[in-house]
Amino acid sequence: MGTFDGKVVLITGGAYGIGRGTALEFAREGAKVAIADVDKSAGEAVVSEIQNNGSKGILIRADVSKASECERVVAETIKSFGAINILFNNVGIQSPDSYHNVENTSEELWDRILNVNLKSYFLMSKFAIPYIRKEGGGVVINTASVQGIQSQPLVPAYAASKGGILSLTRQMSLDYATENIRILAVCPGAIDTKMVRDIAETEDGNTDDVVKRYGSTHPLGRIGQPVDIANVVLFLASDKASFMTGEHICIDGGYNALGAWASAAGASMIEEN
Ligand SMILES: NC(=O)c1ccc[n+]([C@@H]2O[C@H](COP(=O)([O-])OP(=O)(O)OC[C@H]3O[C@@H](n4cnc5c(N)ncnc54)[C@H](O)[C@@H]3O)[C@@H](O)[C@H]2O)c1
Repeated sequence: MGTFDGKVVLITGGAYGIGRGTALEFAREGAKVAIADVDKSAGEAVVSEIQNNGSKGILIRADVSKASECERVVAETIKSFGAINILFNNVGIQSPDSYHNVENTSEELWDRILNVNLKSYFLMSKFAIPYIRKEGGGVVINTASVQGIQSQPLVPAYAASKGGILSLTRQMSLDYATENIRILAVCPGAIDTKMVRDIAETEDGNTDDVVKRYGSTHPLGRIGQPVDIANVVLFLASDKASFMTGEHICIDGGYNALGAWASAAGASMIEEN
């Protein structure tokens, strides 16, 4: 018996990284998993992995920054599985060429990041919630970031999208609480995914070493893995979290616990110990 036997989970951006890791964990716990992603071959590979493990999965190739595509994703999920119980809005982009201050951020770049990272969360929720309601309730989980709470230089659009997700999560939780539709968010620290490796590749040195260095900035001394996020997403989607809504959880190896005043000397003390 799996925790999610008979449940249908719809995941955006499930072909790689956190979405992929979460899709595999939900499937392992008995859920039927629909993945919406632009990348057909990577998405199909995840679906094969799910099916080889004896679970049910489908890929819906779609660009979820567009309303018509989100509507189609929901319709195809219903056509294949007949219901939606859990929506995991996870898609997100932060490409290596997107690091600019506001003056140097083009309108096109701003729109692209906001449309994928924030508008798709609104659109997917808009089209999926009527079906979640039909099941007597369910859960929407949004992937924000530690960058929704604190920030770093040169990411105005990404930062705005992640702050927007946290605000949208709180807001939506109020509109749907009486219908037993819980709305929650996760805030990952640095996680070892394609997104992070694409950025690491642009830095000097061996990519594995750069990724290790990103990891060493976390008090726990390592980079996170997709399964670290998946474990918390599954908990939030389960009945064990039935009194939680409108909340976000940081899964960040202690990132947010480390104050901005903590010196480089303080960071090296962590390594020494
Ligand atoms: N990796 C990290 O360190 C980290 C940290 C904090 C937050 N996050 C957030 O976690 C989420 C997942 O990130 P990840 O690191 O797994 O990224 P990733 O790049 O590894 O995976 C993102 C997936 O989204 C898909 N995608 C991109 N644009 C799409 C679109 N328009 N329509 C449909 N699919 C699309 C990609 O094909 C890919 O499968 C994002 O929201 C990201 O902002 C990641």
